[in-house]
Amino acid sequence: MRELHDKIRNEGIVLGEHVLKVDTFLNHQIDPELMMKIGQQFADRFADAAVDKVLTLESSGIAPALMTALVLRTPLLFARKQKSLTLTDNLFVESVYSFTKQQKSDVTVSRKFLSPGEKVLIIDDFLAHGEAAFGMVRIVKAAGAEVAGIGIVIEKSFQDGGRKLREAGFRVESLARIASLSAERIEFIQQAGM
Ligand code: G4P
Ligand code: NA
Ligand code: NA
Repeated sequence: MRELHDKIRNEGIVLGEHVLKVDTFLNHQIDPELMMKIGQQFADRFADAAVDKVLTLESSGIAPALMTALVLRTPLLFARKQKSLTLTDNLFVESVYSFTKQQKSDVTVSRKFLSPGEKVLIIDDFLAHGEAAFGMVRIVKAAGAEVAGIGIVIEKSFQDGGRKLREAGFRVESLARIASLSAERIEFIQQAGM
């Protein structure tokens, strides 16, 4: 998605060789017009997937996922991150490890919002090692629902999450795929039609 590539080039800040800071439009301040275009793009790419519900993880996945759900005319469900839980009877709970934060958190979804047979489109802002995405996949499967696909705003292709998800058979659509990061340059993997 050219407009997203330009935005990343113009406003992204590279921290080390592994982290891209995009808090002017995605992770802190949010650009609603860009989010709408991102939602439209995901809706186009998954138009044939008969999506019943969009699922993301709070907090930064919510903006692109909401716009996607708006265009697809489905509900948006966001998984919550919680430190420690006592009452889990009514919840799907999966533990997710964050490499960035070097800590585990419990990711939860109420059982009343996912049903067997539903087709669920997973959306997230970043894909690094895939821990968050696989956590959401496990929740969808625990509900007896089906993963319709996985839409990622920014995939860091030099980390292994994208490869692992595709090898597991999931359809992954990433709007920007970053091949490498350095202070001087952000390299994208060019995609057809972008
Ligand atoms: P993984 O899920 O793909 O394995 O990634 P990881 O554990 O490393 O991600 C932990 C958090 O860091 C996630 O946000 C993820 O979106 C974010 N993240 C990973 N790589 C980058 C990056 O290069 N730049 C930015 N800006 N964020 C990155 P989170 O903790 O869930 O926080 P939130 O922003 O959704 O609240
Ligand atoms: Na994030
Ligand atoms: Na995220």
